[in-house]
Amino acid sequence: TDYTTSYRWEWFSRARWQEGFRHAKKASSGGFVELVKERGLDRELVLDSSCGLGLKTIVMEEAGINVEGSDACALAVEYARLLAEEEGHRDIRYFQSTWEALPRTTEKRYAALFNDALSWVYSEEEMVASLKGLHDVLKPGGILAYMGALPGSDENTSALLYNGEWSKMLSEAGRYSLGFRFSDGHRCVTQAVVLEKGTDYVDRHLLYIIEDGKKRCRLEARTERHPLKWHWPRMEQHLVRAGFCEFTTKEFIADSGKP
Ligand SMILES: C[S@@+](CC[C@H](N)C(=O)[O-])C[C@H]1O[C@@H](n2cnc3c(N)ncnc32)[C@H](O)[C@@H]1O
Repeated sequence: TDYTTSYRWEWFSRARWQEGFRHAKKASSGGFVELVKERGLDRELVLDSSCGLGLKTIVMEEAGINVEGSDACALAVEYARLLAEEEGHRDIRYFQSTWEALPRTTEKRYAALFNDALSWVYSEEEMVASLKGLHDVLKPGGILAYMGALPGSDENTSALLYNGEWSKMLSEAGRYSLGFRFSDGHRCVTQAVVLEKGTDYVDRHLLYIIEDGKKRCRLEARTERHPLKWHWPRMEQHLVRAGFCEFTTKEFIADSGKP
């Protein structure tokens, strides 16, 4: 899905997160940083292929990794460059690309790729094309590190995990919840979230209610689909077809003690 609407309001309200983003992003990218170092790839070029606003990209760079960032969303890339500049990392290269198009959008080849959104691809065709694009931008022997179905998990464990995830989402936030409310003195944005469970996905409907002093407020919306169908046997089939050949999982314990 197109993330533009969310990034517009995330950026508008960045005073909420700009000071403290490193802590959370260290936890979610720390496993990758560790892996790159363990394999002695810290001097090689790696790509954060779902960089969004580039928060993890900055954290990786600060951990000593030679990293670039790419994302399908043009607005995210524009803001990622601004953020990197504000945070003193003007040297990080960001570019716009879908995963499928990567081998054509950049001539560089990477020793490792990070991807935290692969399991949000919904269609089989898009998954096949995305994995092929990611594979073909890797150097021989390169690594794709993604968050999602774990090698070895079967259809049942995946279903259990996902049902557990759905119950967790419901108990944490409820079906309807308020996200953030932020005002810059001229405009006020309120984010509301509605969860909906489909046959093989959970939709998070994100509603942005924008008040700018006019009589009526404006509504922008975006639906984020979380597919529940990428159990390991299905992922393995697509990964092998794209050319990947060795699979492993990596556990990482963040500073907070959370796995
Ligand atoms: C979960 S967000 C990334 C968050 C970011 N890594 C962070 O930690 O702040 C997922 C990102 O993947 C990007 N994305 C989704 N599908 C894509 C595709 N097919 N090709 C490239 N980027 C894609 C979206 O535009 C979005 O920015």
